[in-house]
Amino acid sequence: QRPGHISVIIVGGTGDLAKKYLWQGFFQLYINQVNSGNTFSFYGGGQSPTEKATPVLFEILKAVSCTKDVSQERCALLKDQFLRLAQYRQLKSLEDYQNLAKHIEQQLQEEGMTEAGRLFYLSVPAFAYADIADKINSSCRPKSGAWLRVVLEKPFGHDYRSAQVLASQLGNSLKEEEMYRIDHYLGKQVVSKILPFRKENKKILAPIWNKHHIERVEIVLKETLDVKRIAFYDQYGVIRDVLQNHLTEVMTLLTMTLPMNVSSSEEVLGNKLQILSSILPLGKDQAVIGQYQAYKAEVQQELNKTKDHVSRTPTFSVLAHIDDAQYEGVPILLISGKMLDERVGYARILFKNDIFCVQNHNNIHCKPKQIVFYFGHGSLQYPAILVSKNLFKPALIDSEWKEVTEHTDVNVLGLPISDYFVQTPIEQKEAYAELISHIFFGLKNSFVSTENLLASWSIWTPLVNSLIGSFPRIYPGGADNADLLDIHLKGKEISYNNKVVIISPDQMSG
Ligand code: BG6
Repeated sequence: QRPGHISVIIVGGTGDLAKKYLWQGFFQLYINQVNSGNTFSFYGGGQSPTEKATPVLFEILKAVSCTKDVSQERCALLKDQFLRLAQYRQLKSLEDYQNLAKHIEQQLQEEGMTEAGRLFYLSVPAFAYADIADKINSSCRPKSGAWLRVVLEKPFGHDYRSAQVLASQLGNSLKEEEMYRIDHYLGKQVVSKILPFRKENKKILAPIWNKHHIERVEIVLKETLDVKRIAFYDQYGVIRDVLQNHLTEVMTLLTMTLPMNVSSSEEVLGNKLQILSSILPLGKDQAVIGQYQAYKAEVQQELNKTKDHVSRTPTFSVLAHIDDAQYEGVPILLISGKMLDERVGYARILFKNDIFCVQNHNNIHCKPKQIVFYFGHGSLQYPAILVSKNLFKPALIDSEWKEVTEHTDVNVLGLPISDYFVQTPIEQKEAYAELISHIFFGLKNSFVSTENLLASWSIWTPLVNSLIGSFPRIYPGGADNADLLDIHLKGKEISYNNKVVIISPDQMSG
């Protein structure tokens, strides 16, 4: 893209997300771009009047930090420059947006710069999207030759129909290529390495990446905290909050046909659509849902509900499905919950043991043969890709990754770390900073297209609808999902409450 002036506008610029991740991400972008010939202005926008919100914005901006490779002196200088380029603007009425556009034009004239683009980050509740997109479209489009990118945060609807309505409202104002729907899991380092890892190790993986060799796939996000934003959460629940998006994205990266070019947005998004379309809609029989015990009281207290009110919102879910010739019969479990026994996120591909077991005298000794994409938290504090040594030695993806030799006493999913080949990034990058850099470069493969969003909702909507009226199983806070929810993964059988709920064993032969 041609260099020039870039205006970054965070609508909701003093909100929680902006405070926690977005300004930091844009500061990182600024540091990376400072010598590129591009110039920037940063606007924090919101409903509050300028006098009130300006000091709030600057408090947030003062907290941004540099990575270790930047000296303290240089960091102070860069921060100072960044703060000078930033300002707060009230963005409420159409007139406010028109004034913003005028201000940008003026700035361009003063600088004598051509415009490269305008990046609007909508960090506001989704119900405001259509109206803001309309205002951007009617008053803030850059002149021809410069790009417009509008970034949106989930939720993108609460079912297929509402997602479709929102998508069509946005489609009235924005072109598909102008929309960047964020799923922050796609910015996590390990998640973004799934396709490159599959490609790099294609020769070994391709023959075993199927129902004949894979025992099961688990995609897990366990959390120890409660749900926090009850008013939001009670409407959504765990399935809409993380399964329909984060865990589904990870699942598509693991199961989609490997693109020839893993950086091509067209290929990546196209192949994702293909796998999403081949998954049958999910139903009640494929899910186990739970709710932590204290949730009921939290809802009653925070939402002022009466003592008799019963919320059916699930805070835990396990799900499985299979539906593709390549993976037919392979349980793919998506597991997530709040208030569980540990904070951990990973995807693991467990290979069938009988193929890889070793006979030692008369004993057959089998250790799990697995590949683990470890997103972080849990016993291993850092993100990593782990391949059990009894499987194969992976190629190192690139120089950013190194093999780990320390923490040898750590056990990860049934194996001491010394039984793995481990690849872990030298420098940990924040997901938002990574995605912001992709938006800046116009790379769309780590974002959710309209087609893919709707394809995902068509899998999940029948399930969320079928659960209306179902009571989740109650679990105490800190529950170990297996013991307290009676969910057991025994070889090929997945049972809940002594009942095989997911797949009958005869469907699982391969
Ligand atoms: C968010 C969900 O999208 O992802 C939260 O709304 C959840 O409920 C969070 O806690 C998990 O993300 P991470 O990066 O902390 O694993």
